Amino acid sequence: MKHLLKLADLTREEILSVLNLADQLKYERKNNVKKKYLEGKHLGMIFQKSSTRTRVSFEVGMSELGGQALFLSNRDLQIGRGEPVEDTARVLSRYLDGIMIRTFAQKEVEDLAKYGSIPVINGLTDYCHPCQVLADLMTIREYKGGFKDLKFCFVGDGNNMANSLMVGAIKMGMSFAIACPKGYEPDTALVAWAKENGSFTMTTDVKEAAKDADVLYTDVWASMGQEEEKRVREEAFKGYQINADVMAVAKPDAIVLHCLPAHRGEEITADVFEAHANEIFDEAENRLHAQKAVLVKLLK
Ligand code: CP
Ligand code: NVA
Repeated sequence: MKHLLKLADLTREEILSVLNLADQLKYERKNNVKKKYLEGKHLGMIFQKSSTRTRVSFEVGMSELGGQALFLSNRDLQIGRGEPVEDTARVLSRYLDGIMIRTFAQKEVEDLAKYGSIPVINGLTDYCHPCQVLADLMTIREYKGGFKDLKFCFVGDGNNMANSLMVGAIKMGMSFAIACPKGYEPDTALVAWAKENGSFTMTTDVKEAAKDADVLYTDVWASMGQEEEKRVREEAFKGYQINADVMAVAKPDAIVLHCLPAHRGEEITADVFEAHANEIFDEAENRLHAQKAVLVKLLK
């Protein structure tokens, strides 16, 4: 593992190895064991979009590992004024030990890795969100003891979350069902890959996707960068919601996950959200442990 650009680049064994280390780091933190795995290391964090969880968990994570994180907003970097990513990559590689980037185009992340000489971590693009899915898989394993024979159901937009969750679920051996409106399907190439490599179904019927599901997941109807489509999307996604009726067709012990931020009354009702708040906030906490594991794997 040289970078974390997208989940598809990782083998099942590499994912398991990250999850195992994440469990160990979580255990060490709970027991106040402080090991400075990344003493003296520096991570640059480029943000072209907003963030609460990703920013804070990477920053705290680096500090807990004995290293340091630098918050680099595109409003302050020359990249925001047009300096090419090829040059930014080569310059930052002379100062830093790793780069985390949150941006729009997946190509920008791939180019940073191509032109730089240090590990690059994708902290979300329009295409995928691998760090989130590692934390999601960690949470599923905590609650369900493993992945075998589980049905994973995603309700909503075929966005960056859906793309990464499909890959993660199929790689770990879960079956994956998505309910999304026509015109909002996940990436075509990933759908083809999922159909070839596991059990994948796509429908416009939420209850069909949710039937007997062990894990239900949803995300916002309009992602960052799609603010102008908000109205159109509110129309298109009406009914694509995890609510009590949908929970009634899932397994009785089903868990509900959400990458957050959540829009109550849109993709999820407030009652379902609160009934599953333990899972959802464990999931948010696990961003810290899963990313510390990624950092140790890539930067040590
Ligand atoms: N889930 C997630 O990535 O949250 P932030 O946008 O707050 O980083
Ligand atoms: N799909 C959302 C995920 C946020 C973590 C977005 O891209 O805004």
